[in-house]
Amino acid sequence: MSVDGTENRVVSGMRPTGALHLGHYHGVLTNWLRLQQEYECFFFIADWHALTSNYESPGELHTAVPQMVIDWLAVGIDPGSTRLFVQSRVPEHAELALLLGMMTPLSWLERVPSYKDMLEQPEGPALANYGFLGYPLLQTADIIIYKAKHVPIGEDQRAHVELARELVRRFNDLYGREPDFEEQARACVERLEQARLYMELRTAWQEQGKTDALQQAQLLVKAQRNISSTDRQRLLGYLQGNHRMLFPEPEALLTETPRIPGLDGRKMSKSYGNTILLRDTADAVQEKLCKMPTDPARVRRSDPGEPEKCPVWGLHKVYSDAEVRQWVQEGCRAASIGCLDCKRKVVDRVQETLTPIRQRRAELEEDVDVVWKILNEGAEAVREIASDTMQEVRRAMGLQY
Ligand code: TRP
Ligand code: SF4
Repeated sequence: MSVDGTENRVVSGMRPTGALHLGHYHGVLTNWLRLQQEYECFFFIADWHALTSNYESPGELHTAVPQMVIDWLAVGIDPGSTRLFVQSRVPEHAELALLLGMMTPLSWLERVPSYKDMLEQPEGPALANYGFLGYPLLQTADIIIYKAKHVPIGEDQRAHVELARELVRRFNDLYGREPDFEEQARACVERLEQARLYMELRTAWQEQGKTDALQQAQLLVKAQRNISSTDRQRLLGYLQGNHRMLFPEPEALLTETPRIPGLDGRKMSKSYGNTILLRDTADAVQEKLCKMPTDPARVRRSDPGEPEKCPVWGLHKVYSDAEVRQWVQEGCRAASIGCLDCKRKVVDRVQETLTPIRQRRAELEEDVDVVWKILNEGAEAVREIASDTMQEVRRAMGLQY
């Protein structure tokens, strides 16, 4: 349930750590493309997050940032409907992260799996800088500063959103308190047209634990048009406790994504060097795919093979229709097709996916100023929201002079 009618808002970020590849395309970007049709989306480049581990090579950011945005735009992320910006251009994120740090128990950060995993790596402890420990705190600020409800992420980020939810509960509990909360809340209820219904639903939730009553009451509050955001926070808070809901709890949006095998059959990933990049030329794509290893049993064209033992088959599972897949299975096992014939079908599909992306990339490369303009406009627009939130936060934390 959102606090300020931000039910429809999606926020997600990506670290600018290099050229995007087909794994990102099928895993993250197609999902973003879908979301931008339905939701108000804010997508940003998490340059501060990149520095938590790449602080020794900050120079890479200057090209990595626009290049990543070019990848986004080339696949069809629409700056007309979606806000795109660079995290560090909205310094309010940092202020919020600092303030959240005041109320965050150190142990909450120390038990985050990504932090614990890092410490267990051989070179891990050398990376144990303060920024890395605070990584999920900054991520929480990124999300809640916009009061976003949905956070599309991969499985590896689940613990971070879980922490964000805990921090929101703690924040609301600590700073949503008002000495006269009960009276204030009751006064708000009286001003509601459906005051009786609200109280009945509240009782049904508080005394009988009926979650549908809670949800119905939350919807009722959300549907109110002529009330201040403070009153809305009181009405939502009064349903569940004795404090205002300053921030809504964000929710992870985990989507099933196909596993894209890389050129060696392992997961496609920069660290394995097995990627096909969105910015690869048509020739490079062709060459990479043609050089892919196949089932080692097929030494000669006449040797039968087994698709399950071949990384090319993994790509057919993503790119080919049932008919082609059957052709591969039968032809490979009977040695009636050659590996190059088999690969050519994948090459065609991959080129079909990448050709339009490559064309739009080339146009954007010609005019990088446009990319910066989009990022500037995005930052300006979201900064208004972020700064409103910070006003509220400062007031709630006693920083109003
Ligand atoms: N940590 C995320 C990742 O590595 C990137 C990120 C930063 C993010 N801030 C965010 C994702 C806020 C979602 C919401 O993938
Ligand atoms: Fe792999 Fe296709 Fe060759 Fe079979 S025919 S080994 S699936 S490339």
